[in-house]
Amino acid sequence: MSHPRHVGRLALLALAAGLLLSSCTLAQQSQSPAAACSSCHVVASTLPQGHPPAPGDSIAACATCHPPKAGEVGPNGYSVRLHRAHVKAGADCAICHVWKANERFGLIGGQGSLGTLDAEDLGRVKKATDTWGRSPYLAARHGEKHTLACGSCHLKQLIPDDNEALVNRQCVACHGTGAQVAAKAKSKNPHIDPHKSHLGEIACTACHQGHQASKVYCLGCHTNFVMTIPGGDR
Ligand code: HEC
Ligand code: HEC
Ligand code: HEC
Ligand code: HEC
Ligand code: HEC
Ligand code: HEC
Ligand code: HEC
Repeated sequence: MSHPRHVGRLALLALAAGLLLSSCTLAQQSQSPAAACSSCHVVASTLPQGHPPAPGDSIAACATCHPPKAGEVGPNGYSVRLHRAHVKAGADCAICHVWKANERFGLIGGQGSLGTLDAEDLGRVKKATDTWGRSPYLAARHGEKHTLACGSCHLKQLIPDDNEALVNRQCVACHGTGAQVAAKAKSKNPHIDPHKSHLGEIACTACHQGHQASKVYCLGCHTNFVMTIPGGDR
């Protein structure tokens, strides 16, 4: 009678050791991580309070209730919280994403595509996601304070065109033209208004940057003006 029990215990021990071993190697393989969420944490304990149970050990378990909204304009708490938490932890994108050069950047277990990227584009997107997730710059401020993800500014065009036309259209879609911003904003010095000057309507991104320090273009000529900008160096 004790024989099978003994074997059972040994098998259980071996199984437990095996699990431990595999989770250790998963956690250490930061260069080639697996899809398993459990290699770092019990997901249920990290979900917001009162969240419905979400069975499964990969991002695919979430998609049934959270279908991708990538490219859409507007708040997206789900995407913003997941990305900000994992970017801050320096976690690898491959925990949740699949990428095939020039074919598809998508989600594990999902069919749709979030974009078509070559290796260089992927590098740019990773770097941009990092600054959006943890930096003092404008894209990060939109993520942190207003739960806006990439799609709000880039729609489905993750790599901006050379003159950033689409991004500028998105700024205007939410904030209005320079003249409208000027009319709304209580300028610190109405004589020197960045949004209403002898330059007329100029691209928002002449001054406002998303992923690097914004710089007030006027100061290139007017070195004596005192002007600060959100997401700037000061
Ligand atoms: C490399 C380790 C690692 C892996 C793998 C990982 N996470 Fe996380 N996750 C973290 C860290 C670190 C945090 C931030 C600290 C915390 O809240 O526990 C976090 C936070 C979270 C949060 C809370 C976000 C918030 O701000 O409310 C959720 C939800 C979450 N993870 C889900 C998942 C899911 C789903 C998977 C699998 C697809 C996964 N994690 C895989 C490390 C990981
Ligand atoms: C059974 C349906 C269901 C499943 C499965 C599910 N969720 Fe949710 N989740 C919801 C609902 C409902 C809300 C609240 C409304 C909303 O924000 O979409 C929510 C909200 C959230 C939020 C907060 C969003 C915010 O605006 O602050 C996070 C984070 C989240 N879910 C993460 C996850 C993760 C990670 C998974 C997979 C492990 C998951 N959810 C699976 C239904 C689900
Ligand atoms: C814990 C899971 C998780 C991790 C880690 C993660 N992502 Fe995502 N990502 C998602 C989910 C889920 C979506 C779809 C969200 C949605 O649209 O609501 C998404 C969507 C995106 C999008 C499209 C967003 C948009 O608004 O158009 C980009 C770009 C992206 N991820 C880049 C990255 C990069 C780069 C990394 C690594 C630095 C990364 N992600 C890490 C889960 C993750
Ligand atoms: C508030 C609007 C805003 C949000 C949100 C935003 N971006 Fe941007 N992004 C910009 C602007 C403006 C530029 C052009 C100026 C710059 O490079 O900072 C830009 C530039 C880029 C570039 C080109 C950078 C380079 O290599 O030259 C990439 C790639 C990019 N964004 C991806 C993303 C991704 C991915 C996300 C989400 C994780 C995101 N952006 C969120 C506004 C935004
Ligand atoms: C989806 C809508 C949306 C888009 C697109 C968007 N913003 Fe915003 N932005 C907001 C909201 C909401 C706020 C917070 C309330 C406000 O100041 O109007 C904000 C705040 C700001 C602020 C004040 C930031 C701070 O932290 O003090 C600046 C500057 C700004 N946006 C510039 C831009 C520029 C430039 C672009 C284009 C690159 C842009 N926004 C794209 C919605 C958007
Ligand atoms: C010449 C540089 C420049 C250009 C171009 C520019 N801005 Fe600004 N923007 C600034 C500066 C500087 C501030 C900070 C103003 C302040 O604090 O009084 C600012 C602040 C803002 C704010 C925050 C206003 C507030 O009341 O907090 C918004 C929103 C904004 N800009 C949107 C835009 C949009 C949309 C465009 C394009 C139509 C644009 N900006 C073009 C320099 C510029
Ligand atoms: C290419 C250089 C250049 C840029 C960029 C520029 N200006 Fe000027 N600005 C001038 C010149 C030249 C004059 C006329 C000579 C003078 O009075 O200094 C002038 C005059 C002015 C004046 C009236 C004179 C004064 O000093 O009060 C104001 C106000 C002004 N600019 C504001 C701005 C603002 C705001 C911006 C950014 C939106 C800007 N300028 C960008 C070159 C520039």
